[in-house]
Amino acid sequence: MTIQWQAEAIWEAVSPQWPSFSVEILPEIDSTNSELMRRARAGQHDPVLLVAERQTAGRGRLGRDWKSDLQGDGGTLTFSLGVPLVPADWSGLSLAVGLAVVESLHPDLRLKWPNDVWLGQRKLAGILIETASVGDTRYAVIGIGINIAPRDATDLRTPPAALQELWPEATAPAVLARVALPLAQAVQQFVVQGFAPLRQAFHARDLLYGQTVVCSDGVTGTGRGVDASGALLVHTDQGLLKINSAEVSVRPAPPATVP
Ligand code: BTN
Repeated sequence: MTIQWQAEAIWEAVSPQWPSFSVEILPEIDSTNSELMRRARAGQHDPVLLVAERQTAGRGRLGRDWKSDLQGDGGTLTFSLGVPLVPADWSGLSLAVGLAVVESLHPDLRLKWPNDVWLGQRKLAGILIETASVGDTRYAVIGIGINIAPRDATDLRTPPAALQELWPEATAPAVLARVALPLAQAVQQFVVQGFAPLRQAFHARDLLYGQTVVCSDGVTGTGRGVDASGALLVHTDQGLLKINSAEVSVRPAPPATVP
């Protein structure tokens, strides 16, 4: 089955801001992030939106795999935006990207710090940002995987959410067409203004605000949003702590057992 991507329309919308921008659709690749990182190391630094109809070795954060079934028929959208960037401050980029994704897709979607997209208590999309140095600047590879159609995931503790639960006609091409321009604009805005102006918007989508959270370093407390740099704020017995590290995983605490 040939998937009809709206590559030209996306290119027309984004290229006025990035004149050397291109859109590329591949039937199969190991990982769109890996491919753009390889290209960056080989000296290719132009802005590009690389979409894979199928990834054979998708990667997630913290060295995890990113598995996506049903890829060829649009059950999952997997793509990476590669772009040379010189922000004054990189902190908060992943939050800005997550915000662009949820705001362009549906009011019910939430962000689980730092940048997972959740629907209710289930993950719907993930974001992996990597960078390669390019002379004095850096090339950022912003990889996004979105579950479009419900899938069988008996191997996972919590089955993932799918966008078709909210938007029944959603297809991978339609989702890409909706996300691409807001994502490019968010990245450009981030370079100029950083994360600070987005703090309130993040707050409105913050899954962890007011929830009991447990961090992998043992910190337990109540989510209190993020600061102007995008660090997670956790109210604890020791006061308000800032969680910066990408190595920290945060999850709602298990419910207290009732005797
Ligand atoms: C995560 O939640 O751990 C991040 C998942 C990121 C997956 C996307 S799919 C497109 C791009 N290519 C990859 O190999 N990973 C990202």
